[in-house]
Amino acid sequence: MSVLSGKKILLGVSGGIAAYKTATLVRLFIKAGAHVQVIMTPASKDFITPLTLSTLSKNPVYSSFYNQDDDNEEWNSHVEFGLWADLMVIAPATANTLAKMANGVCDNLLIATYLSAKCPVYFAPAMDLDMYIHPSTLESFHKLKLFGNTMIPAEKGELASGLSGEGRMSEPEHILAFLEANLEGKLPLKGKKILITAGPTYEAIDPVRFIGNHSSGKMGYDIAECAAIMGASVILVSGPSHLKIDNNLVQFVPVVSAQEMYEACHTYFSDVDVVIAAAAVADYRPKEVSVQKIKKESEKFVIELEKTKDILASLGEIKTKQFLIGFALETENEIENAKLKIQKKNLDLVVLNSLQDVGAGFGTPTNKVTFIDKNFKVEPMELKSKKAVANDIVNKVIAHFYD
Ligand code: CTP
Repeated sequence: MSVLSGKKILLGVSGGIAAYKTATLVRLFIKAGAHVQVIMTPASKDFITPLTLSTLSKNPVYSSFYNQDDDNEEWNSHVEFGLWADLMVIAPATANTLAKMANGVCDNLLIATYLSAKCPVYFAPAMDLDMYIHPSTLESFHKLKLFGNTMIPAEKGELASGLSGEGRMSEPEHILAFLEANLEGKLPLKGKKILITAGPTYEAIDPVRFIGNHSSGKMGYDIAECAAIMGASVILVSGPSHLKIDNNLVQFVPVVSAQEMYEACHTYFSDVDVVIAAAAVADYRPKEVSVQKIKKESEKFVIELEKTKDILASLGEIKTKQFLIGFALETENEIENAKLKIQKKNLDLVVLNSLQDVGAGFGTPTNKVTFIDKNFKVEPMELKSKKAVANDIVNKVIAHFYD
């Protein structure tokens, strides 16, 4: 999944021949899963039609402060466009538009929107080779970078004038790659590896029966998704679950039993920075697993159970740099029991679920948790969706690295 997926991109098109390439750029943004809103300068309409960009972006295209063709002359609010966007890309950015941006010359909708935008702004210059190195253009670049904007440098090659040199707008594929790399580099968990356990475990009784539990895996999958969105490389070790995850930063490791989950976790542990144990691991398993299907013969049937290995505690014993987060599901003496768990398993943070809270636990889309850290600081949270709880947990991980 692209880092641009779900992002709202404001594309500002100014009047240079490279404007024709914005058709491809819009398509690439849409393919990456972004929402695109195009704003054009009046001059750019000589190079590509608003209809083309509006069809490709699936949105109306704006180029003036009000729609002359409308009876009611509706106002196109540059402030709203500016607030809507997650990022603004000005491509092609002509020498004229760059100079206006650098000096606040606000005589069209694109510049007014640029001046209103609070999001990161990228600009991809496009002009002839001599214009590209003219001191006034260089001054515009310098000022715009100083203001916090990011330049997507022009490329060398054949120019529309017939000359050859530096000044060609970066190719649409290169603009996309530049934005993805730049945004990924800014993600707070970029370069961090997180091991997450999720779902139930199934403990075999015979070839067709098992002991399991009702965990859907949703909490762990939501955490995995959220950590990946923040740039982390995630290893998701999951017991049987119907849920799917589609993110190329998530390595999916399916397991069935507690023993398989234990082995998978120990395979990856030494290399990870964080472990989040959200799985509902079976505490006991049948001591003997019948090779054949067990026949119903006697009136009573007793299965002898033995303890499974405590995965989290075993990781707590050997941890070095790893930040360990465990879950605790309690019905009484919640805080005290959770604190004991921190000590027993050598954890850094416990996410406590109290079954006394309405809307918490299995089978609900919501959860109400309390964070308790290794210094026993207790932080109760509101009842939230599991996605929002996942976000809070990932924020705790981010705080661990940056606070
Ligand atoms: N856990 C684990 N391996 C196990 C059992 C639990 O990794 N064999 C992890 C769970 O993923 C969870 C935490 O340990 O993060 C839960 O601890 P556990 O001791 O099982 O607590 P509860 O099930 O909440 O309660 P109890 O103390 O009654 O067992």
